[in-house]
Amino acid sequence: MLVDVLRCPRCERGGLRADRAGYICEQCSAGFPVIGGIPWLFRDPQGAAGEWRARLTLLLAELRADSTGIRATLSMPGLLPATRERLIRIADALDDHGLRLTRLLEPLDVHADTADRDTLRALRTRMPVSQGLTNYYVNIHRDWAWGDAENAASLDLLDAAGAESLAGLRVLVLGAGAGRLAYDLHRRHGPALTVAMDLNPLLLVVAREMYAGRALELHEFPLAPRGAADHAVLRTLQAPGAADDRLQLVAADAMCAPFRPGAFDAVITPWFIDIVEEPFPALAARINSLVADGGRWLNLGSVTFAFMGTQRMLQFSLGEALEIVQGAGFAPPAVREATLPYMQSPASRHARLESTVAWTARKISAVAPPETRGPPEWIVDATRPVPLTADLQSHARSTRVHAFMMSLVDGRRSLADIAQVLVEQRLMKPGDALPAARAFMLRMQEDAGRRINV
Ligand SMILES: C[S@@+](CC[C@H](N)C(=O)[O-])C[C@H]1O[C@@H](n2cnc3c(N)ncnc32)[C@H](O)[C@@H]1O
Repeated sequence: MLVDVLRCPRCERGGLRADRAGYICEQCSAGFPVIGGIPWLFRDPQGAAGEWRARLTLLLAELRADSTGIRATLSMPGLLPATRERLIRIADALDDHGLRLTRLLEPLDVHADTADRDTLRALRTRMPVSQGLTNYYVNIHRDWAWGDAENAASLDLLDAAGAESLAGLRVLVLGAGAGRLAYDLHRRHGPALTVAMDLNPLLLVVAREMYAGRALELHEFPLAPRGAADHAVLRTLQAPGAADDRLQLVAADAMCAPFRPGAFDAVITPWFIDIVEEPFPALAARINSLVADGGRWLNLGSVTFAFMGTQRMLQFSLGEALEIVQGAGFAPPAVREATLPYMQSPASRHARLESTVAWTARKISAVAPPETRGPPEWIVDATRPVPLTADLQSHARSTRVHAFMMSLVDGRRSLADIAQVLVEQRLMKPGDALPAARAFMLRMQEDAGRRINV
């Protein structure tokens, strides 16, 4: 049963019991809703729902702006009939895509008129910074439309590294995405419970539909369309069959996972460890705390840690990663590597081959998990004062300068005029003002036209 493995992500002590409206902590009485049929077990469930709602609203506004922009180009002289046809196809698909996403994410309770696009852009949320609603949109189509060969190859590689059966065990898939690997594993191995957890509600609702055996239509927008018809392809997504109710979805953040320590016999991290914003040693300790004594950690994916940007120290090689796994209380991992097809959409000229790593590591000792990384209490409890830290003060000053600079753009002032104002306001020295104004305006112009990650 799902409740057997749950722990309150707010107080991190009490178990959760199912209630008419959702889940309640037996210790601190914090409540957690079920949204769209999925237990919504974020530390700050209302805040998380609000963030995703804002992201969806912004995404819908971006889609509308995109299709309106495309339609505006239709009146340009000299358009080839084929170009016209392609543009209409894309604009229609974008409009329809917006409607479909709205329907699918209806439980988030989105209103189109929440705020205008510019306000939403300014206030856009960061949860975690790199995780947008459509970041892994292509995974949906790979999982449930055209990716049978890829999905099978992933499962086989994981099995080759894990070998032993998961039958009758409790399994957690962290960052399960649109849910295919969790589904395939569950069908092949028959665990007593498989929890597929992710923080992205779009991926989760697609998984929910698939696990229920229902078909769903969504547009695919391939990276490098093969032909005109491939710029927007309406795909039917469907699982080979409905899953049983021992395969459960949970919406939550792995950095504040709502599970009892040692609740799982196996924790699986497919294409996950190197995209989360946490140094790998801390993540490995976090995973240790979720695995039961003698249980296993199964990993699949790339080992690039590229999100660590310039922090080269944290961009571990495979060898280092395996040492870190052992340092985090696991026996030496059994490792398999294979070159697998990756995101090879038949509608795209872009396709990848990934040198993929799978490992299984058995837990031999417990290590202290890092602190959970949920939002602070002043975020969860909206009545508390927002602490005025030195960082926030400095950020507030720079955003004021930013807003002031933008207010100088009135269609008449030149760069030299703007630089002059900066000098008059004693914000910059005469020699520095013009190059600074130039660099700032170039960046603003680029940012204004940039598509943003929602
Ligand atoms: C690269 S995708 C892999 C998805 C899926 N495992 C697959 O192989 O298709 C990474 C997944 O991790 C999820 N994710 C990222 N950060 C997370 C976090 N802190 N907690 C839970 N899920 C997270 C993303 O939403 C995304 O679905």
